[in-house]
Amino acid sequence: MSESQHADWNPLDPLILQDQRGAYDEMRERCPVAHSEFMGWSLFRHEDIAAVLDDPETYSNASRFLAIPNGMDPPVHGRYRETLDAFFDQEQMAGIEPRVREIAANLLAPLCAGKEGEFIDAFATPFAFRTLCALLGWPEQLWECLGGWAHDNQVAAVSRTPGVGKALASLFSEHVKANLTSHRASPSGVDDATDALLRAEVDGVRLDDDQIVAVLRNWAAGQGTVVAGLGILILHLAREPELQERLRSDPSLIPASIEEILRRDGPLVANPRTTTREVEIGGRTIPKGGKLALMWIAANRDPRAFEDPDAVRIERNPEAGMVWGRGIHVCQGAPLARLEMRIALEELLARTKRFEFADDTPRRAVYPVNGPATLFLRLG
Ligand code: HEM
Repeated sequence: MSESQHADWNPLDPLILQDQRGAYDEMRERCPVAHSEFMGWSLFRHEDIAAVLDDPETYSNASRFLAIPNGMDPPVHGRYRETLDAFFDQEQMAGIEPRVREIAANLLAPLCAGKEGEFIDAFATPFAFRTLCALLGWPEQLWECLGGWAHDNQVAAVSRTPGVGKALASLFSEHVKANLTSHRASPSGVDDATDALLRAEVDGVRLDDDQIVAVLRNWAAGQGTVVAGLGILILHLAREPELQERLRSDPSLIPASIEEILRRDGPLVANPRTTTREVEIGGRTIPKGGKLALMWIAANRDPRAFEDPDAVRIERNPEAGMVWGRGIHVCQGAPLARLEMRIALEELLARTKRFEFADDTPRRAVYPVNGPATLFLRLG
């Protein structure tokens, strides 16, 4: 079947966008390998996605755009990945932790004092993008440019309006290159991630400015996913005062809770692959060059992989989950994302006795992310 012949579903149907999680659960059971004009072949089952992740030779990540390292296949991917993994190692994370905590504390102070507020705009978005600025050694007021760019990029992923994606890519490139120029002209003296990117080498050759832009595009998009993740965590905890209390009295349970809450309701909808040969998945034949979408939210809620998947059980083995993907393209920024979400929860729980919804119906964010777009909280 050619990609344009037949559509099993429409991922942008308003009914699907209204409840992405429920709709993907339904697709996984009714049509686990489903074709759409928008996404190509969507895979919903945990087992099918795991098989794709284990076989990068058949399922390629190669992209016509420069995307480092996610738009690359082995062996080139591994060489870039090795250089860039160092930016998220334990030492780097330990170094940034005090500043991330300060950023969280500064944003939470007015929110907690006011006793009521909208969490996504007042905390999650500025927190994630200020953290990125701090990591890069950029002036922190630039967080609004980065956050605005990531948001507009998410909107453009749905609208696919001709020219918009390209315009956003140029805008981002200009921002990054301006910061590279100012770093070169007056090094801050602090060895930040921008200095390290300007020195970084792959195969003995330094990254050029366009390559650094292609790296940072991923980091900024990743922070957009952190915003969605924080929204999901707070949404869940606001509904579950008992779990809130458990984490308040034993913060060592926070990391496992983050993994499990995000397994149940994931912040990222899908990532693509392209087949390098004809394949058969779930009884359907997908031609060479077929576009696949790995539907993370559906896989992480597959009852074949997780008993009672809708229940949050923090003692579950997080290895089975695919919140961060797995295999060679497993999320490179996961150590940073985990650090940010842990610190945000530690600080919020320590400053409150309880938080709950101040309005009943949080507005949802939609593809390419998932979670609440607005979250009005009452903090006690
Ligand atoms: C809650 C937040 C996040 C989630 C749930 C998440 C999830 C994921 C997933 C599922 C993948 C695998 C994609 C695939 O297999 O095609 C991935 C890849 C990636 N993520 Fe994240 N991510 C998050 C935050 C971040 C952050 C903060 C950064 C960087 C600052 C980041 C950087 C990357 C990069 C560079 C890749 C590509 C890795 C490669 O191709 O080798 N992510 N992420």
